Amino acid sequence: MLKKFIEQMRLKAIARQLRKPNGAMGHKVARKMNEANEFLYDFTLDEMLIADNHSILEIGFGNGKFFDKLLKKADNLKITGIDFSDSMVKSAKENNPAAIADGRLTITKGKSDNLPFANNSFDRIFCINVAYFWDEPDKHLQEIHRVLKPKGKFCTTVRTKESMQYMPFTRYGFRGYTEDDWKLLSHKNNLTYINGVLVNEPPIEHEGSTVRTQSLCFITEKKR
Ligand SMILES: C[S@@+](CC[C@H](N)C(=O)[O-])C[C@H]1O[C@@H](n2cnc3c(N)ncnc32)[C@H](O)[C@@H]1O
Repeated sequence: MLKKFIEQMRLKAIARQLRKPNGAMGHKVARKMNEANEFLYDFTLDEMLIADNHSILEIGFGNGKFFDKLLKKADNLKITGIDFSDSMVKSAKENNPAAIADGRLTITKGKSDNLPFANNSFDRIFCINVAYFWDEPDKHLQEIHRVLKPKGKFCTTVRTKESMQYMPFTRYGFRGYTEDDWKLLSHKNNLTYINGVLVNEPPIEHEGSTVRTQSLCFITEKKR
């Protein structure tokens, strides 16, 4: 009984840190995320069809380790990152001093349901492992729609509901999505659903065992 309770507390603490990393444990969790999610970054960035001069927003960048991959995707990119965790904003600034100094990267603290950007600002918006935490996804998608340029694309990648079962902390405050869920949400929020790509990830080590997870990368577009 006590063992079960302690395990539940541990899983809840991990879930809280994944939602909003904070302090020393937040930095540790962020480094683990870098290991577990690099493949998803490579995959998603390829699907985004990034071109020279694009203005790109990442929502929920963790410690910002992968901005350098994004900056290499094309010439003259203007990248903005937004995250609501003070700890992650600080880490992302420390991890990307050169790109920030020369104006290619701007790091902002804020929430995706209240984006501090003008209408029609971005050619591409993306987030990886973030949509689980949206209690009211419509509010976030309305904001994303507002700040996307016409014909701009929004890409989001999340683990499949089946894969989330291998990660017991996802029982605490994570919302999973099927392709049908995402089609419906996109339609409701004026985003044209383009496709959902199944991502077969390489095996990852998770708490002493090897797990094989799959993710879905959803791609949508603003009509006008
Ligand atoms: C699970 S981590 C994912 C980090 C990274 N994208 C990855 O896949 O490794 C979620 C990140 O999104 C941020 N986040 C969660 N909800 C957010 C929201 N509504 N607005 C802004 N940032 C958010 C958290 O602070 C955290 O840095």
